[in-house]
Amino acid sequence: MLRLAACLILAAPALCAPAQAQQPLQTLLVNVDHRSTVSLNGDWHYLVDQSPGRALYTSTGAINDKSYAMNDHPHIVGPHNEEYDFSAAPTLKVPGDWNTQVPQLFNDEGVVWYQRDFDAQPKPGTRTFLHVGAANYRSHVWVNQKRVCDHEGGYTPFDCEVTAVLHPGSNFVVIAVDATRLVDGIPSVGIDWFNYGGLTRDLSLVTVPTAFIDDYDVHLAHGSAFDPMSKELTGYIHVLNAPAGTAVTIDIPEAGAKTTVQTNAEGTASFTINATSLTLWSPETPKLYKVNLASGEDRLSDEIGFRDIRVDGTRILLNGKAIFLQGANMHAEAPVRGGRANTDQDVATIFSYLKDMNANFVRLAHYPHDERMTRTADRDGIMVWSEIPNWQRISYDKPEVYAKDVVMLKEMIRRDRNKASVILWSVSNETPNNPTRTKFLTDLANEARSLDPTRPITSAIIGPKPKGFEMVNDDPLCAALDVVGQNEYIGWYEGTPEDADKMHWTFPNKPIIMTEFGAEAKHGNHGATNQRWTEEQQVYVLQHQFMMFARIPNLRGTTPWVLMDFRSPTRNIPKLQDGYNRKGLISEDGKKKQAFDLFKQAYKDHTLGKPE
Ligand code: GCU
Repeated sequence: MLRLAACLILAAPALCAPAQAQQPLQTLLVNVDHRSTVSLNGDWHYLVDQSPGRALYTSTGAINDKSYAMNDHPHIVGPHNEEYDFSAAPTLKVPGDWNTQVPQLFNDEGVVWYQRDFDAQPKPGTRTFLHVGAANYRSHVWVNQKRVCDHEGGYTPFDCEVTAVLHPGSNFVVIAVDATRLVDGIPSVGIDWFNYGGLTRDLSLVTVPTAFIDDYDVHLAHGSAFDPMSKELTGYIHVLNAPAGTAVTIDIPEAGAKTTVQTNAEGTASFTINATSLTLWSPETPKLYKVNLASGEDRLSDEIGFRDIRVDGTRILLNGKAIFLQGANMHAEAPVRGGRANTDQDVATIFSYLKDMNANFVRLAHYPHDERMTRTADRDGIMVWSEIPNWQRISYDKPEVYAKDVVMLKEMIRRDRNKASVILWSVSNETPNNPTRTKFLTDLANEARSLDPTRPITSAIIGPKPKGFEMVNDDPLCAALDVVGQNEYIGWYEGTPEDADKMHWTFPNKPIIMTEFGAEAKHGNHGATNQRWTEEQQVYVLQHQFMMFARIPNLRGTTPWVLMDFRSPTRNIPKLQDGYNRKGLISEDGKKKQAFDLFKQAYKDHTLGKPE
């Protein structure tokens, strides 16, 4: 499975030994939501596999292509054949997790098989892909009984080419999704969030010309220093299967920028053009430009903002101006209805909370969220921290796990590279400070930097153990980071709320974001400020945090843990947690706690820190 994932993205055909899977693809379609597609969302039949995947895995652990993937129908009157029938099986909504749709599957972290029919009219001179927004955790996809791809990773998109297996008329797709947590998984087995399984984001069929635009990068030229006068746009467009010299046109009418360039032998056409007028993207002016790309038969448009983000000493500069990030953390859970967030309504509600809170920033923890989140952030002017789920302990000593991580990193960056709102790529959260881990994550940070030299790289560092009232972050990983995220829970897991008043921090000379801090409170639970689990105590802990922040000179942002209470199987104090992490400023059913108003005021008054 890992070998196949690696080869799909890393184009290392030598690794693609498994028999049935199709030829490795060096592609992951970007901007699919702007292509004309056939949506495969809706009701899919499902079958629950006997744990740990009796129908999916053979006795040797290989993928069984001859079981439910065949989509057979039982001969009720005989002779005896199969004992399953998708066509008569119950259905699950896609996109969606299975846990919150079927009570019996609430705690199911095994294998569920999905099936649906769909019509297709394959046209000569075109290629068709099944695009999956995300599926947690491992997925195996068959179309018309042929395995077309396998994928590992629950929070990034992938594509399966189906051109060779489609036929005119009715076709069918079967997808086995295995949500089992793996020691060598990313994340690994121990996580403080709910492991929702299933086809959790949009699925669609995408038909493109044989030679098509599968990737591009259009950004404001990022020189060694920000030039406020520059209107230089640069980047590349990659046309898959295009012979060298293929013409590619990029046209940004509103910016008065248009050029036609040629592809090189690898299908890449690089360009640099000067716009005649350009409003830079920022929270105050989240200006997006219609960008039209054309090559051969293929046409693709996008809405892209242009901005410059960089670090200068201990400052974070947006378009040359020092900024302070006023944000919150959040998990990809749907407000009120619960389950994975994946609808326009879910996202609209979440952004209404951020706006109401006077936030200009959001940390999407601890994995890439639905693309609707970064699209909306682009439109609403909310800056984004995007992270891959190297959460605490993973198998840092395994090269194959590192290869998986690179796949996930590439998938994350490829999907959101052209989102102006995304200002930081994070490679991990709260990881153990040891040389093996530091090497692993330093390499990954450098990989991210080479994939995208236009954005700072970061990570959230675990809170150091206090030495008296000294908190020293001397984590060697910080040397590999441009911006340092710092988690700490003084007043909740550590010490008393008042300890924060006396706490002295020592940090690397870099911009610091306090990426996690806070306390748990059950909405509606009231009492004295020294009574844990009350809204009053949550506010009290935070007020003392604010006093501590005022004494951190290179503090450039704050993201309290967490915007909304979220499901976590590790949180089981009856009547207080009941399966939820209660550090939210808002309850899971949308009720604002007193702490929400505390931030609303602090962010309105810009009292938590200074841009420089
Ligand atoms: C950690 C971790 C979060 C977790 C939080 C908590 O810092 O990064 O994922 O939910 O603490 O304990 O509430």
